[in-house]
Amino acid sequence: MSLCVKRLIYNDDEGKEVKGVCSNYICDLKEGTDVQITGPVGKALLLPKDPNATVIMLATGTGIAPFRSFLWRFFLEKHDDYKFDGKAWLFMGVPTTSALLYDNEFKKMKEIGGDKFSYDYAISREATDADGNKMYIQNKMKEYGQELWDLMQKDNTYVYMCGLKGMESGIQEALGGFAEKNGVEWSDFVKSMKKDGRYHVEVY
Ligand code: A2P
Repeated sequence: MSLCVKRLIYNDDEGKEVKGVCSNYICDLKEGTDVQITGPVGKALLLPKDPNATVIMLATGTGIAPFRSFLWRFFLEKHDDYKFDGKAWLFMGVPTTSALLYDNEFKKMKEIGGDKFSYDYAISREATDADGNKMYIQNKMKEYGQELWDLMQKDNTYVYMCGLKGMESGIQEALGGFAEKNGVEWSDFVKSMKKDGRYHVEVY
């Protein structure tokens, strides 16, 4: 098992330092300490059974954690009953290059996966989009908007989103236009994808 934890420390409205309970507990653990864990419950962010599926993964910050495990399953692990033969596309948003988690691992997967794996990242504090906006994940996705829209029309394309809450509406803004061009309302489109179990959102 592997965890991806960012230590949370911030100042509240009165300027008092607040430490996140869970992240600081975990980050301050001494090596070798026994920790009781629970889960996973097997209900959220599950992969499709179809090994030929197209899996689009959208992550900001530590939201990368579930997708790292997806990608391990696709490209690094050996399973008797599962061999990925679809297409995996990861979009990742981080503030700085130094915050690009697991970059070496993903590059190695790219070498192994070849055309089966696309890896794109948006580094918000170091890059801007064509309009000069901060390079958020949704702006990076917009560059591939038509391609993503076309992929989402396939029955075996699954979208997974994990990370900051703001990305959900951001992605709607970035891709909504492609739906509109096809005479579809983005929210209706997402609703029907969700109904089919093809659009999964885990934001906070
Ligand atoms: P920024 O903080 O530069 O505004 P982390 O969790 O490591 O801080 O990374 C989260 C990443 O998501 C950062 O690059 C952050 O950018 C970016 N981000 C912040 N708000 C949004 C939003 N509304 N939509 C998409 N990405 C966002």
